[in-house]
Amino acid sequence: MALLTGSKKIKTVVFISGTGSNLKSLIKFSKLKKSPISIKMIISNDYKAKGLQYANIYKIKKKIFNFKNTFSEKKVINELEKSDINLICLAGFMKILSKDFVKNFKGKILNIHPSLLPKYKGLNTHERAIRNKDKYSGCTVHFVNSRLDSGKIINQKKVRIKRLDTPKTLAKRILIQEHKLYPAAIIKALSL
Ligand code: GAR
Repeated sequence: MALLTGSKKIKTVVFISGTGSNLKSLIKFSKLKKSPISIKMIISNDYKAKGLQYANIYKIKKKIFNFKNTFSEKKVINELEKSDINLICLAGFMKILSKDFVKNFKGKILNIHPSLLPKYKGLNTHERAIRNKDKYSGCTVHFVNSRLDSGKIINQKKVRIKRLDTPKTLAKRILIQEHKLYPAAIIKALSL
């Protein structure tokens, strides 16, 4: 990943749609001395996203775009280029980016997904893992390509599914692992 720019931190944007707990963990990670990233912007497709509160708390620029068409995506691309952004972390971002958008930032977009990919791409991953009586589920960080949840896997963490797990209890345990996995994945991705 041609991201390292000498000793300077990599200018990063985080895309969110919801609660933003992964965003919060990435912000905390970015503030560590050893962290290779600096989060310059938070982008959401939803002005109601709870995670936008972290923009205010940590004084990070925030922007809302609807991502409904290529015109809106062009505006995002302009904004990212204007701010010299070199890494895009999708963290609970529930929109699918167009092929053109992905091409524009080839190799520079990462996503976290709540399953052990290639199993359970898309939505309702916890329900599907429980329904199929899987012994394990987990989370994956991968590069984003033009196919949904299909880019090269960077790292994964397995989480055991308990007998009485509901999608909610499982999601909660997996989320705790997500918060550790994403920072580790960023470090690993930079060395690939
Ligand atoms: C996380 O579990 C993340 O893996 C998932 O949404 C949740 C967001 O939580 N992402 C996807 O399902 C993407 N397809 P957060 O807003 O608290 O970080």
